[in-house]
Amino acid sequence: MADPVIRLRDAQLTLQGNAGPVDILRGITLEVARGETVGLVGPSGSGKSSLLMLMGGLERATGGLVQAMGQDLTALDEDALARFRLSHMGVVFQSFHLIPTMTALENVATPLELAGAPDAFARAAAELDRVGLAARRDHYPAQLSGGEQQRVALARAAAPRPAILLADEPTGNLDGATGQAIMDLLFGLRADHGATLVLVTHDPDLAQRCDRVIRLADGRLATEVAA
Ligand SMILES: Nc1ncnc2c1ncn2[C@@H]1O[C@H](COP(=O)(O)OP(=O)(O)O)[C@@H](O)[C@H]1O
Ligand SMILES: [Mg+2]
Repeated sequence: MADPVIRLRDAQLTLQGNAGPVDILRGITLEVARGETVGLVGPSGSGKSSLLMLMGGLERATGGLVQAMGQDLTALDEDALARFRLSHMGVVFQSFHLIPTMTALENVATPLELAGAPDAFARAAAELDRVGLAARRDHYPAQLSGGEQQRVALARAAAPRPAILLADEPTGNLDGATGQAIMDLLFGLRADHGATLVLVTHDPDLAQRCDRVIRLADGRLATEVAA
């Protein structure tokens, strides 16, 4: 692949469970090209979220190589990883991870402020507008439905226009029309900014719009099918 933005070579993740070590990812080798959109599918427990965490440097591989934009993520300490993510990556977690003591607007503005954007709050307001939440700016996460929290998380991840966006079931809590709007936002990031997208999904419509679908089974790559 000419210009891989994400590169894994025999990446492994073994975590300590109560009953001893658990092999969660068992040697994953893959590359994602710049501007490519990859759907990650597979049964529950197959390792999709864990793989996304490795790509985002949120879990450290216990073996093999994990590179993003040419940087070996396994070589960075926590601070350097956080800085790397702030400059290059947006992550939408399966459980959103919004900051409970901040309003929707403050949640979206925070990464922009950290990145030094002078107009962080105005931009955050515009992002909330794009996901249809203009009227919810001043609500706290606990005052929002699951689908609304998901849209805030997406706005927060997309606001800094990251080169890489990793999203865990980004349409999982949304109805058809809202899901469609979120998909348009995701694919707009690619069309307008050349972002590389890796999307964990159970949604056949979303998978179908990806350039490539990667299937996981029991911590390994199963068949790769063209979307
Ligand atoms: N912190 C952890 N400690 C031990 N096992 C874990 C941990 N996190 C996830 N697992 C296990 O790893 C496997 C893959 O989990 P996950 O990546 O969340 O799968 P998926 O997103 O495909 O449903 C599951 O069997 C899960 O129980
Ligand atoms: Mg998962």
